[in-house]
Amino acid sequence: MKDLVSATLCQQLLAVFDDPTYRPPPLPEVALELMALGSREETNVAEVVALLERDELLAATVLRLVGSPIYAGRTPIRSLREAVVRLGVQGVRDAVFEVALRNSVFVMPEYAETMASIARHSTLTAYITRIVCRRASLDQELAFICGLLHDVGFAGLLLAVNHIERADAPPLALLWKDIDGLHEHASLLLAERWGLPPAVVEVVGHHHHLHTGDCAALAAAVRLADHLTEHFGATVKGPMVAGYPMTGDSIGLFDIESACLELDIDTAALRLIVADAERTVPEIVLI
Ligand SMILES: [Fe+2]
Ligand SMILES: [Fe+2]
Repeated sequence: MKDLVSATLCQQLLAVFDDPTYRPPPLPEVALELMALGSREETNVAEVVALLERDELLAATVLRLVGSPIYAGRTPIRSLREAVVRLGVQGVRDAVFEVALRNSVFVMPEYAETMASIARHSTLTAYITRIVCRRASLDQELAFICGLLHDVGFAGLLLAVNHIERADAPPLALLWKDIDGLHEHASLLLAERWGLPPAVVEVVGHHHHLHTGDCAALAAAVRLADHLTEHFGATVKGPMVAGYPMTGDSIGLFDIESACLELDIDTAALRLIVADAERTVPEIVLI
């Protein structure tokens, strides 16, 4: 244990991502195939339904989610076919990722409470990123996925800790600061390992600080949404120490201001985004 908490911890943890025996958190194949389908010009409804039907459990949970008011509005969606017709491939893909992340990726009994806070934070960030992009008139195609996956590095790193230290899970409080410092880069490595589109890799790997590449605007939207989760008490909460959760995943004032500048969002627009989010948050169903 002492060896693990050392100057080489960061290198050890990141090296795990290149280790062929390391299994990244599982992302259902259906989710990855839907991602590939979504970028095709023509996709027919039957093809998407057939794909979803390959994973019955996932499909059932997705159906429950898209039947909720946040997706379906006043008329509930009752079948996979209806879901694809009403929400489109992109909408269904976003719902599949939402369920997959919550049920397969952000799950680790050893660190259940921290993982639950990361799951809630990620879900809210995804919905708020969508709202920010809409207000900033940005292309929303990858908004939800980027928001949802931005902190996935936390999950990858906690699995990496177990991979190195196969015995009992070490006390998270000892590792938290290093994990927090590494999670942004770990998100990039995981997104790459899953073969997600380069824009997603780029954004999740640069979600904390000013980013100037082609995806600067989308990265700024995720950064701002990430910060706005504070308003809903949905920040990432680390392990408890002396009765309080350790903090992490914080974004500096400069980086929040630079995001607003990049997106041309002033105080009035920011207020509208928060109001939109306040309407949306109560409808987010945590299945
Ligand atoms: Fe975050
Ligand atoms: Fe983060």
